Amino acid sequence: MLARTAWLFAAAFFLVVSHTGISSHAQTAAPATLTGKVSSAEEGPMEGVVIRAKKGIVTVSVVSNAKGEFSFPAAKLGPGEYALSIRATGYDLTGPSMVTLAGAPLNLDLKLVKTRNIAAQLTNLEWITSVPGTERQKNILSRCVNCHTLERVIDNKHDAAAWKDVITRMATYSNNSFHLKPQVRKEARDMDRFVPNIDEVAAYLASINRSAGDFTWQPKPVARVKGSGTRVVITEYDLPDPTIQPHDVIVDSDGIVWHSDFSGQILGRFDTRTLTHKAYPVPLQREGWPTGALDLQADPQGNLWLGLMFQAGAAKFDRKTEKFQMVQLPPHLLKDDSQQAMVGVQNWTVDNRIWLQDPARRGIYRMDMTSGRTELFEPFKIMPRSSPYGVFSDKQNNVWFLNFGGDHVGTIDAASGEVTLYQTPTRNSRPRRGRIDDQGRVWFAEFNGERVGVFDTKSKQFKEWQIPGQFFAPYDVTQDRLGNIWTGGMNADRIVRISTKSNEVTEYPLPHATNIRRVFVDNSTTPPTFWVGNNHGAALIKLEPLD
Ligand code: HEC
Repeated sequence: MLARTAWLFAAAFFLVVSHTGISSHAQTAAPATLTGKVSSAEEGPMEGVVIRAKKGIVTVSVVSNAKGEFSFPAAKLGPGEYALSIRATGYDLTGPSMVTLAGAPLNLDLKLVKTRNIAAQLTNLEWITSVPGTERQKNILSRCVNCHTLERVIDNKHDAAAWKDVITRMATYSNNSFHLKPQVRKEARDMDRFVPNIDEVAAYLASINRSAGDFTWQPKPVARVKGSGTRVVITEYDLPDPTIQPHDVIVDSDGIVWHSDFSGQILGRFDTRTLTHKAYPVPLQREGWPTGALDLQADPQGNLWLGLMFQAGAAKFDRKTEKFQMVQLPPHLLKDDSQQAMVGVQNWTVDNRIWLQDPARRGIYRMDMTSGRTELFEPFKIMPRSSPYGVFSDKQNNVWFLNFGGDHVGTIDAASGEVTLYQTPTRNSRPRRGRIDDQGRVWFAEFNGERVGVFDTKSKQFKEWQIPGQFFAPYDVTQDRLGNIWTGGMNADRIVRISTKSNEVTEYPLPHATNIRRVFVDNSTTPPTFWVGNNHGAALIKLEPLD
């Protein structure tokens, strides 16, 4: 009887909390239903271990503190059966693997033991920092993480000859391919841009894998997170199909989560309240070309836009009518390798013109939405390795772009068409993606510079912040209304928050191997909530800092 009453109480409490939508800050004050301690014979109490509790499509994770203690806020876990697991490189959980929550608080003593298969646990960053090699050799590995983890690349027996065949095959895949869904390009990649010195790279890969027997080097786990990095609750929502690639994730003013699908021809909509996912099929523009979209942007009218990659052009989605308006490049500009990764539509209503990026032309188009008249701008004509990646427009609908092949923030003046380039303080920084804020500041992540930066378009001043460690590979950056900068690394499975007030850097661990791309902050919650897609893991990830 007692147990039953407790259960009802817990259920009622859970419903009240989710119904009134109490902020995450308030939720943390609620009593915890699941608490515990995590330790191992080697380390004693362990800090920075991720503890995951999964029910249905939702996984909630917390991180252990300096005393090895962890606690799940009650509002995050209702009654029911949960699959329990951990993430700490080098360790396995001895049990339990299932727990039942029935209202009464549950306290667990989790014991970890050394794993026998560390290769299955290493992050890309841990592979890169563990293997022998020069910085130049290791940099090649960062080209492989776009489509799969480095476990696939290093835990195999290929010799140098086999490697040349494998790399040549990789060059035939579209950028928006991954291990679960190869898509073949119309034209193989230019080897000189993909993997220059293939013989050298093949020999290097054969020297670090298992082609000569066991690894000749020791795996080196990266230090687990500490302090405020353990004060977090992370919720992962599984998407209905493992081949969905949520490259860009944004939350609208109604709290609905939208995502592009990097390799599938859909726009995804997820409601965290009902846990329902809806896929809107995007009309096919080019039969026989790889499917999928990259950039997902909202325009001033609240429409959502997708950059259609190898389908070329863009799709505009009206959230009210749920209809797409398709935009295609005019025939004289449409080529076999046309690729619109990014759309600059933030202020297109100013002059009725949209900006579209094209890595294949290393250029940016501007298209008039009434006449379809399209101009091509080539800001890097005399700089053969340079290429615009992230693009976005300011309030006058001038476009701003990031030189992923070099180290510039650039702009094209809407009135004169004049191009201006500003070099980042860090050289060869390869700024990848970012955005422009209300104050006209361009934020960018330096993929090769291991920094995030901001460029004030009025004062023309740069400022940069260093990301801890090497090979983090920050892909994108955003800021929240409290003055924190947020970024995620494509190698590290970590999210970094930097306070612009105190310069304090907090690293949060992600619960699973996560191919991090676009980052997003929902400023409507207190404190702001961070979102990112797991582009290879078919999950939407919500990160709520507790301080
Ligand atoms: C554009 C996407 C893409 C990139 C970039 C990429 N791969 Fe792959 N890779 C795939 C896909 C898709 C598969 C699965 C299909 C296959 O095996 O062909 C795969 C599979 C593999 C495999 C397992 C299959 C085998 O033959 O052993 C290895 C090894 C591999 N890739 C190595 C690499 C290396 C090394 C790099 C970087 C130089 C790289 N990949 C870059 C898409 C990519």
